[in-house]
Amino acid sequence: MSKNLLAGKRGIIFGALDEKSIAWKIAERCVEEGATITLTNAPVAMRFGEILKLGEKLNAEIIPCDATSIEDLENLFSKSMDTLGGRFDFVLHAIGMSVNVRKKKPYTDSKHEWMQKTFDVSAISFHKMMQVLYKMDAMNEWGSIVGLSYIAAQRIFPDYGEMAESKALLESFARSFGYHYGLQKNVRVNTISQSPTITTAGSGIKGFDQFFNYADKMSPLGNASAEACADYTVSLFSDYTRMVTMQNLFHDGGFSNMGMNPAVFDM
Ligand SMILES: NC(=O)c1ccc[n+]([C@@H]2O[C@H](COP(=O)([O-])OP(=O)(O)OC[C@H]3O[C@@H](n4cnc5c(N)ncnc54)[C@H](O)[C@@H]3O)[C@@H](O)[C@H]2O)c1
Repeated sequence: MSKNLLAGKRGIIFGALDEKSIAWKIAERCVEEGATITLTNAPVAMRFGEILKLGEKLNAEIIPCDATSIEDLENLFSKSMDTLGGRFDFVLHAIGMSVNVRKKKPYTDSKHEWMQKTFDVSAISFHKMMQVLYKMDAMNEWGSIVGLSYIAAQRIFPDYGEMAESKALLESFARSFGYHYGLQKNVRVNTISQSPTITTAGSGIKGFDQFFNYADKMSPLGNASAEACADYTVSLFSDYTRMVTMQNLFHDGGFSNMGMNPAVFDM
């Protein structure tokens, strides 16, 4: 159902690990809509090899980059500009990893070195990415930058651990950098707060299946799928949303505005 919404646009997609990744679906939709892209992920993710298949399918170059390293980011953006033939119109940040959650440390007994690592990978990488883009003047006028977030930034979801604070930080970086980037180049910066989605990162959260079903029942439209998130992201990369910036946009089938839904009692 391509409408060529991204015809002639160039972009970078961070975070496609395997077919379940939200970034994987977004990369596919962007190319379907006429964009040319480069793909990137942490060097360790290359070992799994899945991203190579996506690169082949989409005819996209893959450039490894640890998103916490300024040097890697500079290399990624300069190589991508060479490959794509100019500055970028859109960039997706779809990166998340919590060390304490992965190592099953209870929130009240978190290891703070690990927490700092989580913030660096899941949130500060968003600031680093934008700062390097900004300094290299690598975005086109009216470009669009999107990060993926989750409602635990605003509400408590006990098993989400320190990812909650990571997402709060991520959303705040979108607002603050959105201001500066808007002034410099009319570049917009937003976060999409997505429904629970069955992916490698998502399934790492304790009790994820039960929670997924709960959110699905609670939301009048049900959970938003990764494919629907890809459609929404394309709209934010397109020229139809040029005046939307510094927002956290809920893409969750209505979950964020629900108080109670009798459907949940039947579960
Ligand atoms: N799955 C969900 O339920 C859900 C809901 C809302 C938001 N999100 C967010 O969506 C984004 C994408 O996650 P996903 O669910 O598709 O899972 P995923 O596991 O497929 O993607 C996470 C990605 O982060 C990458 N990554 C980790 N450390 C990195 C580093 N140092 N440098 C570069 N990349 C690194 C991983 O390699 C992986 O590709 C994350 O920000 C996540 O928090 C997920």
